[in-house]
Amino acid sequence: MGHNLRMAERVIPIVDQRSKVLQPQVPAAATHTLATGQLYDTRARPLRDLRISVTDRCNFRCGYCMPKEVFGKEYRYLSHDDLLRFEEITRLARLFMAHGVHKIRLTGGEPLLRKHLERLVEQLAELRTTEGRVPDLTLTTNGSLLARKARALKDAGLQRVTVSLDSLDDAVFRRMNDVDFPVAEVLAGIEAAQAAGLAHIKVNMVVKRGTNDHEIPRMARHFRGTGITLRFIEYMDVGATNGWRMDQVVPSAEVIARLRAELPLVPLAPSALGETAQRWGWAGADGRHDPGLGEVGVISSVTQAFCGDCNRARLSMEGRLYLCLFATQGWDLRSLLRGAASDAQISAAIANIWQGRSDRYSELRASLPADTGTGGRRIEMSYIGG
Ligand code: GTP
Ligand code: 5AD
Ligand code: SF4
Ligand code: SF4
Repeated sequence: MGHNLRMAERVIPIVDQRSKVLQPQVPAAATHTLATGQLYDTRARPLRDLRISVTDRCNFRCGYCMPKEVFGKEYRYLSHDDLLRFEEITRLARLFMAHGVHKIRLTGGEPLLRKHLERLVEQLAELRTTEGRVPDLTLTTNGSLLARKARALKDAGLQRVTVSLDSLDDAVFRRMNDVDFPVAEVLAGIEAAQAAGLAHIKVNMVVKRGTNDHEIPRMARHFRGTGITLRFIEYMDVGATNGWRMDQVVPSAEVIARLRAELPLVPLAPSALGETAQRWGWAGADGRHDPGLGEVGVISSVTQAFCGDCNRARLSMEGRLYLCLFATQGWDLRSLLRGAASDAQISAAIANIWQGRSDRYSELRASLPADTGTGGRRIEMSYIGG
């Protein structure tokens, strides 16, 4: 990594070392790097996807993400002043887009807990890619507030939505979200999203052996033919609090085998470079993919890492740029924003940071110590989003 990285202070972002102990630093003078929309990291991976976390709070306590023992009443969340303001987020998003970002995903925590989120969506929907197109603008939510907010989000310019849903069995679902939240309300949220005209709705199911893996076929049947794409996610060792064990992971190959034992599925080609999911299509009587029945996806970051063409950058709610879901350090862009850096300086910082990127944690997982990422304590999924 080059000396230019001094422009953005590198910080250690673990839960209890957040902004209060970190002094924002006014940047050193930046070299001018023209944004060409073509930014590559050290492994020749372009920057395409920006995931923006808008809050560290969530109203669920999924054991694999925000276990109650850690995220209890005494847990201290960031204060409102620590969070990037919508204008700050939009300014960064615009600079990222000039570097080639096409897709923007809002995450959390639970992003719908951030007040007036539709105003941010409105601002982001006005941005344009280097080809002059609107960004692919989407959001990951637990669905609990979706019934109330789907319409306003759609009207503001949100194009699609991905809902996390781990079970259709109410008792299992209540246990997994650990706040006794009923599954019916999430299903109502998904319906509201459909009714509002949000396109390409996806449902993400984290599969944990012995907890919800028996729900795999039921989930598949429920969403087959609805136009909603269900994706099965291998339970990951993300963060440092979920007590992950390999024997709780259901490999995607097993998920597909279980489904194929009941219903015909055929492999589909990837729809975009750097995609997280492998796609499988439901087949009709002729054995070929029937688009009317739709597809399912499997996300296999444990058994089949997909770092090779990972084009995702992650921006935390307090303005730190992370280059990997398993990162232990992030770059403090907020200090640039609030230190009166120019667009050119921030843009150059982004370029330098991405050009220095070499992260590929999932590929290296097997050879790393059990509870660390690239050296140090890993960030939590609730901090950086999915
Ligand atoms: P679409 O554009 O809708 O296909 O979304 P996506 O699959 O790119 O994003 P989504 O946030 O829905 O990802 C689904 C899940 O895949 C996340 O919740 C994570 O569990 C996992 N995931 C997403 N991105 C990465 C990544 O870069 N690395 C790893 N290891 N897992 C990821
Ligand atoms: N493993 C896999 N996916 C996870 N998510 C959160 N924690 C994990 C984990 N340990 C994903 C869930 C949720 C999204 C916000 O993050 O899919 O939908
Ligand atoms: Fe909340 Fe999503 Fe994490 Fe569950 S997985 S605790 S819904 S952020
Ligand atoms: Fe990308 Fe890191 Fe996930 Fe690999 S582990 S796909 S580099 S975010």
